[in-house]
Amino acid sequence: MLSLTNKRILLGITGGISAYKCAELVRLFIQAGSEVRVAMTDAAQEFITPLTLQALSGNHVFTNLVDVEAEAAMGHIELARWADVILIAPTTADFMAKITQGEANDIVSTLVLATQAPIAIAPAMNQVMWSSTATQKNLSELALRGIKIFGPGEGEQACGEIGLGRMLEPEELVKRSSELFELGLLAGKSIVITGGPTREAIDPVRYISNHSSGKMAYALAAEAAAEGAKVTLISGPVSLETPARVERINVESAEEMLERVMSLPTNIDIFIGVAAVADYRPAKFTDEKIKKSKENLDLKLIKNPDIISKVTELAIKPFAVGFAAETNSIVENGRQKLEEKNLDLLFANNAVETFNNDNITVTAIDHSSERQLGPANKSVVARQMIELISCTLKEGLME
Ligand code: C5P
Repeated sequence: MLSLTNKRILLGITGGISAYKCAELVRLFIQAGSEVRVAMTDAAQEFITPLTLQALSGNHVFTNLVDVEAEAAMGHIELARWADVILIAPTTADFMAKITQGEANDIVSTLVLATQAPIAIAPAMNQVMWSSTATQKNLSELALRGIKIFGPGEGEQACGEIGLGRMLEPEELVKRSSELFELGLLAGKSIVITGGPTREAIDPVRYISNHSSGKMAYALAAEAAAEGAKVTLISGPVSLETPARVERINVESAEEMLERVMSLPTNIDIFIGVAAVADYRPAKFTDEKIKKSKENLDLKLIKNPDIISKVTELAIKPFAVGFAAETNSIVENGRQKLEEKNLDLLFANNAVETFNNDNITVTAIDHSSERQLGPANKSVVARQMIELISCTLKEGLME
């Protein structure tokens, strides 16, 4: 694992039973050529002693936010700057909630808030706690901020239950950490993603739109940027924060979205059409608010341009990825769209499930095969999609 040579690993330990595995984790990092410093919460010290970690890392272990002696040697801000990466292992459900809120009332959460280094968390908790809505919401938020999520693994838990929530084994955590220092899967690639709904104005106060939340597009943008791509997100109206290192262009209508897509530089490597573009728009925009004087109102609608098809018609066609939200014959309809729109890859899913849920199941379809992703949180599925896109881009077809 050459990429870990001379790297500065700041290991934050929070209070879970798997904290005992951190002795081995520190040993493996040192064996791989890294320098390790450790910070622990109070609860973590109930599971493994600072003395053990000090002996293994060869460095003072930080346990207190207000520690005169430690601050004199290396202050916590200096420590946050020192790190090439901060790995929090294990990360409890409580700690995930804490950093989601931006709290900084112990040494480990303070380091997370004070660092500009990449952050990775290795969640470890009871399987019900992991799948709870609150934890999954925190997970999405942290992933959107660009925090790497290592695991959790599946299997027997300390509480006797079996399921998802085990901390990944130290060997796996070291391997994942080393990958952070390698070039991202999409390094140097330029990606355009459309996301969210479009709004088609009827008059100055009314419009036609749909339920798209934009979450899938934003999660994909975050993952692609984390993999080193230059990401432009052309977004319809949504209430989501722009992911780190993503350029966002706001649009309202399908026509505006098309215009912005077409005015981008022509050397796009990958185009991902996630936007739920309104299929129709009012034939005529009425400048003044329409009065409700009549009993019936006839609204003539005309078809919107198909943005992704315009992109695949370009002379220099990027690798094109589409989505299909269907209510029936999901795979058959998805495959038809893949062919009709001349796409390289398409993700098909259940329209009702997508709009109402953070957990989704998706079928990836290319010109020769199909593969299921999920059921999982949109951020986790987004990660799998980016891996699949990068792999299909290289290989031509899904492996
Ligand atoms: O035909 P349908 O709307 O089901 O196709 C969905 C796919 O096509 C998505 O990738 C969506 O972003 C894209 N699309 C588009 N412009 C439209 C309609 C759909 O780019 N007007």
